[in-house]
Amino acid sequence: MIVSLIVAVANNNVIGKDNGLIWHLPKDMAFFKATTLNHYIITGRKNYESIPEKYRPLKDRTNIVVTRKKDYKAIGCEIKNSIVAAIDLARKNGETECFIIGGGQIYQAVLENNLVDQMYITHVLEEFEGDTFFPDFDTTKWDEETLLTHLKDEKNKFNFVIKKYKKNK
Ligand SMILES: NC(=O)c1ccc[n+]([C@@H]2O[C@H](COP(=O)([O-])OP(=O)(O)OC[C@H]3O[C@@H](n4cnc5c(N)ncnc54)[C@H](OP(=O)(O)O)[C@@H]3O)[C@@H](O)[C@H]2O)c1
Repeated sequence: MIVSLIVAVANNNVIGKDNGLIWHLPKDMAFFKATTLNHYIITGRKNYESIPEKYRPLKDRTNIVVTRKKDYKAIGCEIKNSIVAAIDLARKNGETECFIIGGGQIYQAVLENNLVDQMYITHVLEEFEGDTFFPDFDTTKWDEETLLTHLKDEKNKFNFVIKKYKKNK
């Protein structure tokens, strides 16, 4: 099974503020949906709770919420007390590609522990104020491919580039 990570990151590594997203980019959201649909997604408890109630669990995907709380419940979700246990559940159930969907603590932990094979990163080509960040990573360890380039328009107000990074060592 491939373990993938998917994230949208500003030029200054910001990914969120006040437990929410900062930018509204429907085209990137459509990419997120198409990429993760029918797969296992693994989310930190805070990121999960930041999703508006009417949109969660994210539909047509198996949602696994990672928390250290022993009695945590989220209707329609699997709950695991570690990231490795979440990945193992997806693998055991025959998944071919599972997705780490954030937030900051979870991204940090999976990169530190070398759990990720590939990353889909939307680079939002602006700087933003925020309180949650994507970690710096060693670009020499990843082969990158550009999947999509978007110039700002009426509906998507920032330039962005979506790249896929595959680990090379
Ligand atoms: N731009 C993007 O693509 C993107 C994507 C996702 C999220 N975000 C943003 O990121 C922010 C949320 O990120 P965050 O860093 O605050 O929180 P988070 O990573 O979503 O969740 C943190 C929580 O996950 C649990 N957790 C963390 N590490 C764990 C481990 N090793 N084992 C078990 N459980 C663990 C803990 O839950 P308990 O406290 O319950 O124990 C912890 O409080 C929001 O602003 C959100 O909008 C942005």
